[in-house]
Amino acid sequence: MAQRIVCTMMVRILLLGSVMALDVLGKPKFPDEEKNPSFWNMWAQRSLKQALQLQELNKNVAKNIILFLGDGMGIPTVTAARILKGQLSGQSGEEFQMEMDKFPYVALSKTYNTDAQVPDSAGTATAYLCGVKANEGTLGLSAAAVRSQCNTTQGNEVTSILKWAKDAGKSVGIVTTTRINHATPSAAYAHCADRDWFSDNEMPPEAVDAGCKDIARQLFENIPEIDVIMGGGRKYMFPMDTPDVEYPTEKQHFGTRKDGRNLVREWKERMKEKRAHYVWNKKELLSLNPSKADYILGLFEPSDLPYNLERNKETDPSLTEMVDVALKILKKNPNGFFLLVEGGRIDHGHHDGKAKQALHETVEMDRAIGRAGLLTSTHETLTVVTADHSHVFNFGGYTRRGNNIFGLAPMMSDIDQKPFTSILYGNGPGFKLIDGLRENVSTVDYQQNNYQAQSAVPLRFETHGGEDVAVFSKGPMAHLLHGVQEQNYIPHVMAYAACVGQNHEHCGSSSSSAVSPRPSPATTAISTLAAALTLAWLHC
Ligand SMILES: *[C@@H]1O[C@H](CO)[C@@H](O)[C@H](O)[C@H]1NC(C)=O
Ligand SMILES: *[C@@H]1O[C@H](CO)[C@@H](O)[C@H](O)[C@H]1NC(C)=O
Repeated sequence: MAQRIVCTMMVRILLLGSVMALDVLGKPKFPDEEKNPSFWNMWAQRSLKQALQLQELNKNVAKNIILFLGDGMGIPTVTAARILKGQLSGQSGEEFQMEMDKFPYVALSKTYNTDAQVPDSAGTATAYLCGVKANEGTLGLSAAAVRSQCNTTQGNEVTSILKWAKDAGKSVGIVTTTRINHATPSAAYAHCADRDWFSDNEMPPEAVDAGCKDIARQLFENIPEIDVIMGGGRKYMFPMDTPDVEYPTEKQHFGTRKDGRNLVREWKERMKEKRAHYVWNKKELLSLNPSKADYILGLFEPSDLPYNLERNKETDPSLTEMVDVALKILKKNPNGFFLLVEGGRIDHGHHDGKAKQALHETVEMDRAIGRAGLLTSTHETLTVVTADHSHVFNFGGYTRRGNNIFGLAPMMSDIDQKPFTSILYGNGPGFKLIDGLRENVSTVDYQQNNYQAQSAVPLRFETHGGEDVAVFSKGPMAHLLHGVQEQNYIPHVMAYAACVGQNHEHCGSSSSSAVSPRPSPATTAISTLAAALTLAWLHC
């Protein structure tokens, strides 16, 4: 009898394991199983088995590299987004596994800039894309450059993994939910003393006169023919006062360029002999046949894309939809590809104190990670998921298991006798006093999309956080991303794995095609599970 119960449980757990591994949406409810030690023992034993398999290292040459960058996705954000994603699928949430959670290797990345303990996104982007730590606010320049000083640009340029990959004959792409000339994507192609020099309109005239180039221009001039470009930032490509194609009557969306150039028209002209497509809405994007398109320029908004929760599902593509098309285009190159994907508005949600927006942005990036996993194999693709920096965001308050992630802590403050949300910010716009006292959150709708969680210090924009961020990795040489590392170590590993940039000594004359095929760890894990499942049935 006891054996039968254990057997049933074993089968159920293995089934659950396969459901999780295959990412079929099941709705496991644990409470009863969790009282039985064998539930936890078997789960842990399964994890142990998977860990033991990692002793056979994947030392293939990475034909492809994908870097997912969650802007501002600190570890508290990852944990809270995991609970949210689990709760969205009907689970209590804590036990849920996000796509990034399934990656076998994790490291910590130290994010400080050369001149800042708590970093900004430009200096950090230079680190994880160009392999060199830099000053805050500067893009694709070493720490010898000074923010906003045009005359410190020349001679201090550093190049990115995107360029190294392109020079090695790979296709390259950038997909982001921010404007394409925002800090993260810019460090992949630009060398700019100021991250805010989006077009010449945002530059001081002296800098333009001294020959410094705005970021939008550099997107098309520095690394000609970036194969895939998708994001926002349309207005920086068009001459001043040009009405926007999507919002023709809204002045704030008009073109910004003082030099009168139309960078989109120039791109189309330059690419007209090639299978190149400019698209500006979801319909155009999804009607493209990726097997017949080699280059794509997709600019879906005048500035940043909307939050995923507020996205117009008819006109705006999701991050997952953009990544899907990007990969189908890039995959055609027999030499492989490099793709940078940014979940760029996690950061914006936090800056606004809007945790719900930030966490839904994180969930959407995780969906995109899942899609990329289906379109690639760990046999030949190194995938890295990380963040540039954290935020002063956290959740706590001894909430019960399964508590709504946007809900209240189970007790009142023993000082002011008022309730408080589990999610809180160290600083930011959510600081609120009513008649000199902390707001009673029971009187407001703290579950709504744009609720600003309470903060200890009032600030118009919540700030970045200074603690380490996680680096998740899978695929060839992923094991090299281990331990506590400086952030600029990341592209050195990616380049080594792919035999691009300065790392060739270990590559020999063979290319990725010479590596003998072997099943990916994911395939192995699934077949192991299937075998175990069969065994368990037979045994019972
Ligand atoms: C660079 O320009 C700044 C003004 O933006 C000036 O103060 C500085 O002296 C210049 N540096 C050099 C090396 O010319
Ligand atoms: C907070 O608001 C709730 C709901 O209106 C009310 O029942 C409670 O007494 C308030 N607490 C304090 C300390 O004002």
